[in-house]
Amino acid sequence: MQRLSSKDLIMPYFVIEGRNKKEPVADMPGIARLTIDNLLEEILEVKQLGIPRVLLFGACPRQYKDELASYAYAKNNIVSRAVAELKRKIKGIAVITDVCLCAYTSHGHCGILKTENRKQKTKNKVCIDNKETLKVLAKIALSHAQSGADWVAPSAMAKGQVLALREVLNKYGYKKTKILGYSAKFNSNFYGPFRNAASSAPLFGDRSGYQLDYSNAQGALKKIKEDIDSGADMVMVKPALSYLDIIKEAKRKFNYPLAAYNVSGEYALVKMGASIGLWQEKEVALEIITSIKRAGADYIITYHAKDVAKWIKQKNYLISPSVI
Ligand code: PBG
Repeated sequence: MQRLSSKDLIMPYFVIEGRNKKEPVADMPGIARLTIDNLLEEILEVKQLGIPRVLLFGACPRQYKDELASYAYAKNNIVSRAVAELKRKIKGIAVITDVCLCAYTSHGHCGILKTENRKQKTKNKVCIDNKETLKVLAKIALSHAQSGADWVAPSAMAKGQVLALREVLNKYGYKKTKILGYSAKFNSNFYGPFRNAASSAPLFGDRSGYQLDYSNAQGALKKIKEDIDSGADMVMVKPALSYLDIIKEAKRKFNYPLAAYNVSGEYALVKMGASIGLWQEKEVALEIITSIKRAGADYIITYHAKDVAKWIKQKNYLISPSVI
């Protein structure tokens, strides 16, 4: 029988400018935004716990945000520096970088906006310039690859983002840099705490113009297929808990390397419930991670990763195969 393994876990981190800082994230007890020095210490611990992969998000100081997200791909941007140091100092950890614009744009959207459609902003639907967005995503991914990222993970939900990244990486000789597509990314209510952590909440409108509606199962499977056909090395379903059916169907239908993102709001629920005595954090977290694995995820991106890895060291947690 399959069992929970720390090898299946991916721990996300938020990286900030400065030195020796740990800024606790509101609504995510146990999670802090870290400067690179503290990040390295954390990742040594992660490695000792047997977690082989981490996912990095850069946080952009407000004064550097602009309409073009230029801080995201600036020379020596925060993520590139973090990756370079990490790869230099710690061996045996694969680094995945999130490739998106929302933490770096002044408006907080995941893409470049079309100025001629400014009026649309008032209607909740935001108009993204897909072509311009792809160019910026390619620049960001390239800057991460040049610093030694093992994986780049485009999460802007721009059309053709996997293909655009594969092309630029190949062109500059980064054929070995892998791509994790945020393929089925839903316009979810569960991203709230993350947006505090990455300071990436949209200033106006919402992400319904580019992220999937939560009722759209067929659209999700279509996106996954598109990403596989475009050369993604792994695909993702996000969030995880409300989308176990999508995880299961994606695994059944495509049998392709699959990650699930147990997102910030899902983590916050567990923590908040535990803090008011509703349940034991450990028991609830293990139940959730087990269910995501049983549904068919090969890898689970989760803020519980370190804790789960510690619990696994003390006891085996078996996973019976999914019924049917
Ligand atoms: C957007 C992005 C989001 C998350 C990761 N990258 C969500 C969003 O703001 O739309 C959410 C992760 C989480 O909630 O843990 N680039």
